[in-house]
Amino acid sequence: MKHEKLEKNIGLLALCMVIAVSIGGLTQIVPLFFQDVTTQPIEGMVPRSALEVEGRDVYIANGCVGCHSQMIRPFRAETERYGHYSVAGESVWDHPFLWGSKRTGPDLARVGARYSDDWHRAHLNNPRDLVPESIMPAYPFLAHTPLDSSQTAKKLEVLRALGVPYTDQDIAGAAAAVQGKTEMDALVAYLQGLGTLIKSKR
Ligand code: HEC
Repeated sequence: MKHEKLEKNIGLLALCMVIAVSIGGLTQIVPLFFQDVTTQPIEGMVPRSALEVEGRDVYIANGCVGCHSQMIRPFRAETERYGHYSVAGESVWDHPFLWGSKRTGPDLARVGARYSDDWHRAHLNNPRDLVPESIMPAYPFLAHTPLDSSQTAKKLEVLRALGVPYTDQDIAGAAAAVQGKTEMDALVAYLQGLGTLIKSKR
């Protein structure tokens, strides 16, 4: 009888559904906030250099995340192609995450050290020079765009406020560390650091 009342009252039914789903959701989500494996950096991880932080912003500004994910799923088809699957501890210092969800191009979570710096420069300058069938846009202007170092120290400070362990020295030297570099230099430095701590099988 009580159940019939519930089924015929859409407002009450909706409320009870929200409560039931929330309980299920909370029991799955809340423990993740307290597990070391999801909140602690993996062994050997050091904060990105000032140049890599700037490179990451170049990556975001140019929409790379719209075509490239940085999240290798734990399936054989993925690990055979890209290397060890991504673990949460690798991205605890990423603000925001760049896991992405669109793979027009390959996943880049472990692209670091897979190619030479020169390869990346040539590829970004014109992907077709290296991969004739590529549909990736060319980014030749990055090599001619000087990096703006006026905000670099501030960016590191903000990241520190969010929990990335930068030292006062890192922050004081941030602007000098990227002085005279181009956006291309920064982007390549960022790409070369991606996912190198966990060795891939390739
Ligand atoms: C329109 C979609 C698109 C955008 C935007 C895009 N890419 Fe790509 N990218 C691709 C495709 C497709 C490939 C595979 C063909 C190739 O290697 O060029 C690729 C390949 C790559 C590779 C080689 C990966 C490997 O494992 O071989 C790198 C590195 C890369 N892209 C970096 C970038 C960066 C950095 C940006 C932003 C500046 C970017 N891409 C923007 C589509 C895109």
